[in-house]
Amino acid sequence: MSCDNPSKSKPDFTLGGFEFYSALLDSDEQQGILADLRKVIAKAPMFRPMTPMGKPMSVQMSSAGTYGWYTDKQGYRYATKHPNGTKWPPIPPSILSIWDRVSGVSKQPECCLINFYGQEAKMGMHQDKDEADFRWPVVSISLGDDARFRIGHENRGGKTQTATLRSGDVMVMGGDARLKHHGVDRIDFGTSLLLPKGGRINLTLRVVD
Ligand code: SIN
Ligand code: MN
Repeated sequence: MSCDNPSKSKPDFTLGGFEFYSALLDSDEQQGILADLRKVIAKAPMFRPMTPMGKPMSVQMSSAGTYGWYTDKQGYRYATKHPNGTKWPPIPPSILSIWDRVSGVSKQPECCLINFYGQEAKMGMHQDKDEADFRWPVVSISLGDDARFRIGHENRGGKTQTATLRSGDVMVMGGDARLKHHGVDRIDFGTSLLLPKGGRINLTLRVVD
């Protein structure tokens, strides 16, 4: 099951088991995805979630798919509805097609988490572990300004490695890397012209159930 889609293309490089596809998406494809995301956001507006500790996250978030990732004082989890009470919009085909190119699996993702990073936003080291089955990979798509991405280990601590994620880059967290800690140290604001007001969008595609 872990690789039942032979059309998976080869990554440009790997770091700590994370597979990097540099500039997989050209400018037209990035613009097309952005146009599709604007339609998603019109129905499921970005919001700033609270951590279980009651602290607002620095990123803004929304989702597409059967599930959206959510956090508040009740904890980290997947939810079938946006906080406004409506179902999340479907994942646009332009985004699903990227999963088909790099995930190596034919099962489709059920969540596309949309994170928006403004100038000061970052994300602390964490594991993606709210999904039911860690044999499925997570696929990450970067749009807009560059991000300094940090990679650790399954256990907290130890020596870490960094990579820059640029607009159009795609990364796969699967296999031995699936439960490794990772985070975003900072955004190099203004390094891309894709988003008119600057900032970065990261999409992560996840199989939830
Ligand atoms: C995440 O780990 O959920 C986001 C990673 C990123 O923004 O590149
Ligand atoms: Mn993550």
